[in-house]
Amino acid sequence: MSLRRIVAVSKEAEVQQLARQVGQEIFVADNLDEALDIVETVNPDLILFDHRFHPTGIREFLNMTEKNSIRVPVVVVGDGRDSDLSSEFIRMGAYDYLQGRGDYNRLEQIVSRIKNKRNAVDTERTADDFFAQDYAASVSMVGRSKAFVKMLGMIRLVAASRCNPVLIVGETGTGKELAAKAIHTLRHPDEPFIAVNCAALTANLLESELFGHAKGSFTGADREKIGLLELAGAGTILLDEISEMPMDLQAKLLRVLQEKNFRRVGGVKNITCNATIIVSSNRNLYRETKAHRFRRDLYYRLNICPVIIVPLKSPDRREDIPLLAEYFLKTSTICPEKRNKITSLTKLAVEALQKHDWPGNVRELHNVIERAILLETTDKIGLSSIVIDPALDGPECSELSELVWAEPAGARGPTAGYIKDFSLAKAERELIARALQETGWQKTKAADLLGITRATLYAKVRQYNIEKGSYVVKGLQNGIPASSSPQPRRKASPSGVTTT
Ligand SMILES: Nc1ncnc2c1ncn2[C@@H]1O[C@H](COP(=O)(O)OP(=O)(O)OP(=O)(O)O)[C@@H](O)[C@H]1O
Ligand SMILES: [Mg+2]
Repeated sequence: MSLRRIVAVSKEAEVQQLARQVGQEIFVADNLDEALDIVETVNPDLILFDHRFHPTGIREFLNMTEKNSIRVPVVVVGDGRDSDLSSEFIRMGAYDYLQGRGDYNRLEQIVSRIKNKRNAVDTERTADDFFAQDYAASVSMVGRSKAFVKMLGMIRLVAASRCNPVLIVGETGTGKELAAKAIHTLRHPDEPFIAVNCAALTANLLESELFGHAKGSFTGADREKIGLLELAGAGTILLDEISEMPMDLQAKLLRVLQEKNFRRVGGVKNITCNATIIVSSNRNLYRETKAHRFRRDLYYRLNICPVIIVPLKSPDRREDIPLLAEYFLKTSTICPEKRNKITSLTKLAVEALQKHDWPGNVRELHNVIERAILLETTDKIGLSSIVIDPALDGPECSELSELVWAEPAGARGPTAGYIKDFSLAKAERELIARALQETGWQKTKAADLLGITRATLYAKVRQYNIEKGSYVVKGLQNGIPASSSPQPRRKASPSGVTTT
């Protein structure tokens, strides 16, 4: 497998030779200005940058390519000695990193990745933007901002290395679990992936879930239990919300990370831990150590090669918003009848999305798009269908219609009617109830109004248990759905454990 044009920035024959093995036309540059000139003239598929030739120049070179809007992948050829530097390069914007001039296997993998992306572009133009085809469909990560591409680079680097544990940090809804699955998929897709939410379990339960326990080790332990660290085998265990792990359990986790083995609660046998341990946090763990809520030694053990996910509100990720919106629009299954009928978003709708602060990050954007699909009646999502949580969005919420569910007396306080919860299920339920009320419960008309079939309407009425007269409309203006109870914080599952 080869690429058409490669620019090798190096004076060394070995690096040029490496380029020749995977490229048809090789252009050699031996200084940065010349490299930039060649790149602009020949528009290569790849730049191989020799780190030893110009160790400090890579930063300068990446800045130069960025300034000149050059989007050619830059692969740094390192000397394989300093792994800290490799992550630094990725952070700076390099596409990938070779361990040395003989790292031909990795170069081949990189070339095939670049080629796959090209092929996908030929068949579907927009796919190039999504960077999704690098991963299995279940872990499609979408984005094109420099901050996002850097983060993807870090994921690749971490996945290809033996880095264990892996720390993923980012605000809620930025895609930490998705990133963990991406690392898992790239590293060992056929092994188990187990996610544990450390905040969802009590200290004792969490300990016996993770480590397992011996029979009779505590009251109620009437049989032996295999822990999740063991069940993960050679796969991945994700310890989500690690900051919520009790201190004494943190000490036990540290021991596992150092010794690579552990004992079941009440057990005597050492069990080897082969799993990749990924931990994620939406809190600043360094600050947690300062507040004595998180062990400093564990923090340093975890913070080797952190994958940092930049929040959506950051100016560095603004350009991901329209792309993500389009992706969610294309992949949504919320309203099968409208699938492929709504093709895009209007300019005003996109502008509105870009103006919002996204405290709930990508998850919130996903919800807003799904809601917009439900509300939209034309083939383009317009501004009026973009309903952003007014409780988070400031004064504009007063302009929203008040649509209030009738509830048993006393069930709600004096603030009843204040719009807080824009969860999708509620929005859908309310829309359906409203359509039914407006059409006097004529189901064919209501289904038409909603743009769904009668069968789907029946199913939804049953699913949501909607009954005649179950809600009251107050001062309805634009038909924007709302409800009253605050959205609960999402948890992995009632038991805090999810597996695939
Ligand atoms: N880059 C992305 N491309 C596509 N979908 C994304 C991306 N980032 C996040 N998502 C989607 O956003 C939602 C939230 O992602 P995820 O659960 O991984 O976030 P999280 O950081 O683990 O959140 P929390 O801190 O609340 O647990 C998921 O539906 C996920 O698929
Ligand atoms: Mg999560």
